[in-house]
Amino acid sequence: MISKLPVVLFALSAIQITAFPRLDAYGVKELTSLAKNSGECPHLSKKDKAECPHLAKNKELKRQTTFDPTAQRVSTSGDYDWVAPGSGDQRGPCPGLNALANHGYLPHNGVADIPTIVSAVNTAYGMGIDLGTFLAVYGSLFDGDAVSLDPGYSIGGPATSEDILGLGVLGTPSGLSGSHNNYEADTSATRGDLYVVGNDYLLQAAPEQYAALFPFRQTQFNNSIATNPYFFYPQFAGVFVSPAGYAFPPRMMANHSAEYPSGYLDKASLMSFFAVTGESGAFNYTPGWERIPDNFYRRPLSDPYTIPAFILDVLAFGILDPRLLSIGGNTGTTDSFTGLDVSDLTGGVFDGATLAQGNNLECFIFQLVQAESPTMVAGLYGNVTAAMQPLAESISSNLAGLGCPQLGAVSSDMYDVYPGYTMAKGV
Ligand SMILES: *[C@@H]1O[C@H](CO)[C@@H](O)[C@H](O)[C@H]1NC(C)=O
Ligand SMILES: *[C@@H]1O[C@H](CO)[C@@H](O)[C@H](O)[C@H]1NC(C)=O
Ligand SMILES: *[C@@H]1O[C@H](CO)[C@@H](O)[C@H](O)[C@H]1NC(C)=O
Repeated sequence: MISKLPVVLFALSAIQITAFPRLDAYGVKELTSLAKNSGECPHLSKKDKAECPHLAKNKELKRQTTFDPTAQRVSTSGDYDWVAPGSGDQRGPCPGLNALANHGYLPHNGVADIPTIVSAVNTAYGMGIDLGTFLAVYGSLFDGDAVSLDPGYSIGGPATSEDILGLGVLGTPSGLSGSHNNYEADTSATRGDLYVVGNDYLLQAAPEQYAALFPFRQTQFNNSIATNPYFFYPQFAGVFVSPAGYAFPPRMMANHSAEYPSGYLDKASLMSFFAVTGESGAFNYTPGWERIPDNFYRRPLSDPYTIPAFILDVLAFGILDPRLLSIGGNTGTTDSFTGLDVSDLTGGVFDGATLAQGNNLECFIFQLVQAESPTMVAGLYGNVTAAMQPLAESISSNLAGLGCPQLGAVSSDMYDVYPGYTMAKGV
């Protein structure tokens, strides 16, 4: 294990990550804590430490002011030419990952191991190593194979037998497409109705400003409550991941330039990333054909999109509408949204009223994921302890130093009032 450390210390660059032959629990821990403690705020002097997103909760993030066209340009030619997915290639609900597979940043078949995924999202989108590692580890646990020598997952449907990355899972991993309520959830920014029903708000807003998306976000949330009797908004897929559909495009698909050093997302780029062609009112969506636009300049790696940066974005909307931070759902009829009592759920350790303060949201989400995951994956692995190890390491590294209260047992049976929860569990 120790022998890996110098490699990580040397540079947290994409190339170095792919040098990991395998990323086990210990590799995850080192990668995450190094990213957190030093690697991802390297441009800051001591006096500017307050600007580091890891340390500056509840502050607007520092706006990027520099632009380096050579370092920020994302290649879409040569090895990274766009190639349409063929039959047997997996493409799924995440446009960003689909585009990476079409461009060769991920294997074209859509099945990838953790280091490859972390490296690809960092190289092409400037996603923080901490966030990329956590999401990839989570995906491999729930939708892939977390116990093989090369943990990873399919970005689409179940991988065919020759693509399965290893042994140790019971049955065939579902892939990201089969992860409703674990990863992907109701009240999405783009799925279900955006293109089908012709609601093109995200395209119209073409937001260089994340804040401009709030009315759209709230409309979608209200719409789910008003139309879906089984709407369920769980802790991780809801409170944590569903905002990603709104935050990730302006944060990681925006084009950077000298004129817009913190990025600008125009309609043409957004349509390319989301595989949409045509005109407003007559959009054409070709699932799986997501594409990085040519001449795309991503955010600088000195200002990656980290977990703390993402949590700030989640909080920005949660403060405007606290329901967005509350686990809950409809109870079998439309317009019956009931928020769950966070204090009852967590034995009083957390309290809904203070979730937006300090580090509470981050502590709450991650600790709840850790507490609930073993039960959720019990049917997937022969040895759940072994399967949980990388996720547990990622979480404990991310929470180190945040002063989180210690969560004990969780009253998960409280979810049973939500049919959307029990239906997804298949009970
Ligand atoms: C959504 O519903 C909330 C609560 O009923 C309401 O305050 C808000 O104005 C609604 N927002 C939109 C955009 O419809
Ligand atoms: C990004 O911005 C640069 C500079 O304005 C421009 O040349 C390039 O075409 C833009 N790329 C995209 C994908 O919009
Ligand atoms: C399960 O995995 C843990 C951690 O890797 C190991 O210590 C334990 O011996 C394993 N249990 C079995 C039954 O193989």
